[in-house]
Amino acid sequence: MNRKKIVAGNWKMNKTLSEAIELMSGILKNPGDNSVTKIVFPPYPVISAITNFVGASGSFSTGAQNCSEHASGAFTGEVSAAIIKSIGCKYVLVGHSERRQYFGETNAISSKKIKLALENKLNVIYCIGETLAERKANTHFDVVKTQLTEALQGIDPTNIIIAYEPVWAIGTGETATQAQAQEMHAHIRVCLKNLFNSDVANNTPILYGGSCNAQNAAELFACPDIDGGLIGGASLKADDFCKIIRSF
Ligand code: 13P
Repeated sequence: MNRKKIVAGNWKMNKTLSEAIELMSGILKNPGDNSVTKIVFPPYPVISAITNFVGASGSFSTGAQNCSEHASGAFTGEVSAAIIKSIGCKYVLVGHSERRQYFGETNAISSKKIKLALENKLNVIYCIGETLAERKANTHFDVVKTQLTEALQGIDPTNIIIAYEPVWAIGTGETATQAQAQEMHAHIRVCLKNLFNSDVANNTPILYGGSCNAQNAAELFACPDIDGGLIGGASLKADDFCKIIRSF
């Protein structure tokens, strides 16, 4: 088993064009070694500039934070997987909890987006995770299983990465403990085995996200089933993000 190590920065709705270039130039001063796959997810209008900016270095890939569930057409304000691919992105995030929470994204919608992304030869980071109420009600394992099953059934999992992001840990400063994260990542592998097979379960990278930072990344990345991180707040500071990249 030789899974990729991955650190991805989700910039969310932060950074104007000039701020984004400044952040990226800070990150490129200390990008870490090539054993780690490094990805940044800038806001849509800034992606091209960042893709061109990192292009020469070859050490970073870019991705989009979302894509449309439709292939093309009259959907004002939406961006298709084909457009994202055409500007040099290699990745797309699907199913982020903020998309689920604020924009009504369901597992079925995520599934449509994943299919379109894969058809357009994008790699998908599919985000899953339970709310605090679901964890308190002890339904977190079932919630995650349903998120996986409903979105991934019938899909070729080769270019899929999973990000486990417990909603209660996102932007709250409250990180899942090593034990909580490892337990859920192991559960996700069992779900992948049941949905697909053991090879898929063993080879699919599973990232942790939710208040992962320069202080706690090493402890989390040391867990056997955690292959890296999807980083929000701490990816907006070049020094912190570079430290996280070096936390394996
Ligand atoms: P924070 O790292 O800010 O908690 O955000 C995590 C996240 O949502 C990454 O997609």
